[in-house]
Amino acid sequence: MPYEIRAIEPEQWADALRLWENVFGVGQWLFDSLHIGTVDRKWSHCGVAIDESGRIVSAVDLFMRQVRDESGSPVKVAAVGSVATLEEARKQGLSGQLLERALEQMRLDNCAWSHLFTGTHHHYRRYGWFDAPLKTRRGRFKRVPLPITGVRVLNDQEKDAFLSLMRQWWEADNVARPLTHVRTEQYWREAIRPRMGQGSIHQNREVVLVEQGGEPYGYAVIEKQDEKIRVLETGGDHRRALSGSASLYPGAEVVFDLPFDAPWDEAIQLVSDDVSEQPEPWSMARGLPSGLSDELVKAIFAAKGAHHWQLDNF
Ligand SMILES: CC(C)(COP(=O)(O)OP(=O)(O)OC[C@H]1O[C@@H](n2cnc3c(N)ncnc32)[C@H](O)[C@@H]1OP(=O)(O)O)[C@@H](O)C(=O)NCCC(=O)NCCS
Repeated sequence: MPYEIRAIEPEQWADALRLWENVFGVGQWLFDSLHIGTVDRKWSHCGVAIDESGRIVSAVDLFMRQVRDESGSPVKVAAVGSVATLEEARKQGLSGQLLERALEQMRLDNCAWSHLFTGTHHHYRRYGWFDAPLKTRRGRFKRVPLPITGVRVLNDQEKDAFLSLMRQWWEADNVARPLTHVRTEQYWREAIRPRMGQGSIHQNREVVLVEQGGEPYGYAVIEKQDEKIRVLETGGDHRRALSGSASLYPGAEVVFDLPFDAPWDEAIQLVSDDVSEQPEPWSMARGLPSGLSDELVKAIFAAKGAHHWQLDNF
């Protein structure tokens, strides 16, 4: 069957959201929040394959974003997301053609390098992406970490109210951190905020705020999966933020998806026993002729304190 490969038309966006919901089995908001939250978004960033009836059967979306390089300076990165083909249209090269189209778009947009997350690495290796694994730490929350007087799990209104303070804390920690996305105000509002749990979205996530004498000191974003806890982000006073989280879930198995860097190293030791490192193999990257070589991209991943924050996933 002949297919047309091209940029999506604005009126097809709702169809694309349905395709992604269908293929990935997750809510449309996930894809839409990145669309709305990304500054300088262009329709040409989203490539689609259309069948004879005008239906979208495959898509590859690009989120152009500023990400800090090895020295901490922001460079333009093409984050590849929403790669999907309807089951009945697979194995005809559509996704491959859309990845090639995406590479051309990255050249036109002068991107420095490209990043993606996947469980089907071989699909991307064919087009030049290489494995760029990340790592986390695993442990178990101690039963009595730092004594904390005020710990609360924020409700939706409180998350809104504290968002700008969380942003200030987070920015102070990430002002020059390699591999970290430079979050705009728009991105905080449209993409980060729902990823902290909002209404029916991410009901298994909590924002833990730690206060002392009525004054806020730090926050942690945690995700609960069965009995396990995953710490996705902390800001402000990391020792207090993690101690507060541990006081809510004493003895729980925990994954710390946090930078390998001084304040977190110390805070994790304070709140957790039996800490061990584990690889997270889902990340891939590639250099681009218009920007950095593969070697320079690898140097960003290897740089001291480099971190990709979970809430920046795409
Ligand atoms: C991964 C995915 C996007 C691939 O889409 P696709 O359009 O089938 O991709 P392609 O056709 O380019 O390549 C798929 C396979 O078909 C093969 N192929 C390409 N053209 C072909 C043709 N004309 N005839 C037969 N096979 C062909 C490719 O070599 C490839 O082989 P593989 O089995 O070794 O991977 C699709 O399977 C999908 O949506 N999966 C679920 C969501 C997902 O996993 N997304 C990616 C992770 S983020």
